[in-house]
Amino acid sequence: MNWYLIPDIQLTGKPFIKKVKAGGKTLCLVSVDDKVYALGARCPHAGGDLTQGWCEEGKLICPVHRYSFSLETGKGSEGQNDYIESYPIEIKDGIIYVGISSFWDKLKQAFK
Ligand code: FES
Repeated sequence: MNWYLIPDIQLTGKPFIKKVKAGGKTLCLVSVDDKVYALGARCPHAGGDLTQGWCEEGKLICPVHRYSFSLETGKGSEGQNDYIESYPIEIKDGIIYVGISSFWDKLKQAFK
């Protein structure tokens, strides 16, 4: 897993949802209730831009058809049978880093 710095984000305690790029991926960075989450930015249902969505009760809501995904795990709500990628976050001295595993990292992990 490689860690990537997310530039130009100030953690002020105000909630936000932003589109950011890291490790060749487009991510949905969410800050809510004093926590930061990094999730896939594309809805698996029909490709909606999750960075245009909103948060409710620990879930990220897609603005297109309102499917919802856990902020903690990326798992879709009951009945959806889908998920979005969820990435680990580290915050050091107010700077956000996101951990992204490559395809080969995931393949190696699968065969351990
Ligand atoms: S595109 Fe996201 S719920 Fe349909």
